[in-house]
Amino acid sequence: MEAQPIAGLKEAIEERRAARSFRFDPIPEEVLSEILRLGVRAPSGYNLQPWRFIVVKEEANKEKLRACAFDQRQISEAPVVLICCGDRLVSETDYIESVIKLGTEAGAMNEAFANYMRAQIPVLFQYHPSFESVEAWTNRHTMLAVAHIMIVAKSFGVDSCPMEGFVTAQVKEAFNIPEHLDICCLLPLGYANEPLKLYGGRFNLEQVCYSESYGETFKI
Ligand SMILES: Cc1cc2nc3c(=O)[nH]c(=O)nc-3n(C[C@H](O)[C@H](O)[C@H](O)COP(=O)(O)O)c2cc1C
Repeated sequence: MEAQPIAGLKEAIEERRAARSFRFDPIPEEVLSEILRLGVRAPSGYNLQPWRFIVVKEEANKEKLRACAFDQRQISEAPVVLICCGDRLVSETDYIESVIKLGTEAGAMNEAFANYMRAQIPVLFQYHPSFESVEAWTNRHTMLAVAHIMIVAKSFGVDSCPMEGFVTAQVKEAFNIPEHLDICCLLPLGYANEPLKLYGGRFNLEQVCYSESYGETFKI
């Protein structure tokens, strides 16, 4: 049976906290698969979907990962940890064809757009006018999916903790992650130990939004 959310969108966003400690309770398989299924509904440029997730559940593997992550305890406490990666090879011909096939089978692709993708995607990655490195591009996209996953998870009552505190080279070696994958973050998932970390506040919209041009005061 398909898992159903227990919290609405607004509540999930407002109640999500980066959990620093988890109970050992497992996440039901149907809940985890629904979190991942909805998480990868995230958008991506040309629908290239560069995110790749290594789903770590085994105790020994979580201990191995914790050792690559400055001994942060969330890693071994959480029942599931995602190693969230982005694949830099999405501009290769075979991969582009697989995205075109997917869109065609979904009824959302025509030959003109398929040809546009064949021509434009290699150019985007050759000149990359909107990103300095392909690693920036893989991170841009993978973190969107991670954001989806965190919010969807919270709507199912599942807590998370996005983490950049790890050593890339160590994680790559320990989990056989090839060179063309960038590790964007680790994401422990599970049920937080109460009390949750307190809300740390956010800057006012006037401090982070501008009106029409950078530096111009924003007012609703
Ligand atoms: C990309 C990223 C990396 C983070 N890395 C860590 C980390 O390594 N360890 C940790 O405990 N929290 C980490 N955090 C959690 C932040 O400290 C937390 O999101 C922030 O303080 C805001 O709190 P909140 O998420 O509970 O609202 C990270 C968050 C993000 C988005």
